[in-house]
Amino acid sequence: MDEEIVLFRTAQGALGALTDECPHRRMRLSCGKVDGERLVCPYHGYRFGPDGVGESASTPRMRVDARRWDVAERHGAIWVKAAGADAPLPELDRAGFFAAGVLTDRVRAPLETVVDNFCEVEHTPSTHALFGYRPDSLGDLETKVESGDDWLRVWNRGPQKPVPRLVERLFGIAGGDAFVDDWTVYFSPVHIVYAQWWEDAATGAPKGDRLHLAVFFVPVDAHTTELFVFPYSTRAPRGLDRLITPLFRALTAREVALDRKMIERLADPRPDLRGTRLSRFDSPLRLHRERIARLYRGEAPSAG
Ligand code: FES
Ligand SMILES: [Fe+2]
Repeated sequence: MDEEIVLFRTAQGALGALTDECPHRRMRLSCGKVDGERLVCPYHGYRFGPDGVGESASTPRMRVDARRWDVAERHGAIWVKAAGADAPLPELDRAGFFAAGVLTDRVRAPLETVVDNFCEVEHTPSTHALFGYRPDSLGDLETKVESGDDWLRVWNRGPQKPVPRLVERLFGIAGGDAFVDDWTVYFSPVHIVYAQWWEDAATGAPKGDRLHLAVFFVPVDAHTTELFVFPYSTRAPRGLDRLITPLFRALTAREVALDRKMIERLADPRPDLRGTRLSRFDSPLRLHRERIARLYRGEAPSAG
């Protein structure tokens, strides 16, 4: 959101996140270096702790504090929020699921346009390699949307698209199984938490692995969105199954890259929906726009 932040780690391992502008004369603090427990501005050598408190050798009594951000390390990523903001740090772990690492990707498209892609399943038969629905099933795919003031939930069920035998074996599924994709979108920060599993199409009995995925959408600027993806599965990284975790991570990264490549070919990536012909799968698009504007960007609701 056009905020430039310098992240640093002190000699003792403390993390600092400061606005990337020295309060003395606006040098980029990210051009400086860490000396012990302080970040040193390269221009005149003022020194800043992770708490933002600065000191100047020339004028020791002057208050020269950099703007500090709350920062924490969790789930293999560094999380930053406005100091004192009450948004809790996301708790992604779930009982019975094992983390497969964190993936990042950067999409040349605005936040809303990228969230659009992750908020509907109509693209999955054509855009995706493995995760998604059989192309001829879209007509009767079951889909439900429910929403609250600050969340949006979409549930879908239909036939899994055909995948190679190896992938079937990997996830413990077979051709003809139903794939259920059930996700909830949250807006501060903007992220989607997916629960995905397979069922025997006839009996509805669960089959194979269950997946749990969290995707965070960070608007780098008005035209670029960075993705942070945290994939989990019920497969414990033990014994031979240890080999599956990196494979699962690689397959997930590939699917995200397919989304990115598709989104970046849009003739018009602007979030404006006027003139688009929306299908029955597209109702989340308007809902998430309204919530991103109100809850994430803090914009007043537009009249009417
Ligand atoms: S601009 Fe940073 S010390 Fe002068
Ligand atoms: Fe997708």
